[in-house]
Amino acid sequence: MKIAILPGDGIGPEIMNQAVKVMNALGEKFETETVPVGGAAYAEQGHPLPESTLKVAKEADAILFGAVGDFKYDTLERSLRPEQAILGLRKHLGLFANFRPAILYPELAGASSLKPEIVSGLDIMIVRELTGDIYFGQPRGMREAPDGPFKGAREGFDTMRYSEPEIRRIAHVAFQAAQKRSKRLTSVDKANVLETFQFWRDVVTDVHKEYKDVKLDHMYVDNAAMQLVRAPKEFDVVVTGNMFGDILSDAAAMLTGSIGMLPSASLDANNKGLYEPSHGSAPDIAGKDIANPLAQILSLAMMLRYSLGKTEQADRIETAVKAVLKQGLRTVDIYEAGTTKVSTTQMGDAVVKALA
Ligand code: NAI
Ligand code: MG
Repeated sequence: MKIAILPGDGIGPEIMNQAVKVMNALGEKFETETVPVGGAAYAEQGHPLPESTLKVAKEADAILFGAVGDFKYDTLERSLRPEQAILGLRKHLGLFANFRPAILYPELAGASSLKPEIVSGLDIMIVRELTGDIYFGQPRGMREAPDGPFKGAREGFDTMRYSEPEIRRIAHVAFQAAQKRSKRLTSVDKANVLETFQFWRDVVTDVHKEYKDVKLDHMYVDNAAMQLVRAPKEFDVVVTGNMFGDILSDAAAMLTGSIGMLPSASLDANNKGLYEPSHGSAPDIAGKDIANPLAQILSLAMMLRYSLGKTEQADRIETAVKAVLKQGLRTVDIYEAGTTKVSTTQMGDAVVKALA
């Protein structure tokens, strides 16, 4: 099994160091190759996703990604910005299924924006389609409105599209994820208004015939947004399109308190995947050894579980993370009175120790 390690820029390298420490402490030999990406690659080679980095990522069985987007590169033209690296990797590797768990650890209940009784025990999984929808649909652009009450005025337009194979493949991975959890799947759409999502609903309903052990519900996205803040624990696995998933997954992340705790996975059709924290490169705190490395460490656990089939190792890491939280260790983003403030490095060391 070959693992590509792409630390990136900003806090990326700091949190990646901790995840690598944890990987090395598992007592197993992994073949890894570390290559620059994002701002770090631009600084060295003049491009955020150099051919050599893409090659290593393509040849690996799994990719552990840090974060990109340091402010230093904000003035570059769009095609050279660090964020292009992540978009390029998704496209070149065909990563269409984005898994974003939102888990509230009991020790962090006070950090949530909702009342403890509403969020305690929260553990949901949002499966977002990543390569289709209005973000990529053609045609798009700006023009003179060809018709309607504002005919002749300037207008911007995009096209929402989903093909049947795109919906089928994301539905299959979502049903399979539900089978491994509590066997409940909520498909979120806007079938009452949008043709694209009436079609989505029909196709998901058809795929359901192959997963009779899973209970499927359909929900309109506006209602889903309400339910997510009213009674988030009613959800287990949620599957939705690119745009609705973008919005709902960020909202779900905030229910858990800190984005510094949340991993994510983006998978292709063969469970090859890119694993990264849900947050960005946090340039405001980079280089200070204060970033929370747990989202990166939990991304490593997801990688072991989904792409490398090492469930036991993944469980060990997740148990170690729970143990350090129980010990009261907190980086600044999750610190509250009565707990012990630790640095990035100290948090990584504590997880390594808890593994033993
Ligand atoms: P961000 O997630 O980097 O930071 C948002 C806030 O959360 C900041 O106050 C930051 O200090 C804090 N934060 C983030 N991760 C943390 C951690 N592990 N521990 C403690 N605090 C943490 O989002 P922002 O500021 O909107 O974006 C910064 C840059 O990152 C931008 O250039 C953006 O494009 C990029 N970005 C990259 C992503 C990726 O690499 N996949 C995803 C999201 C943003
Ligand atoms: Mg987003």
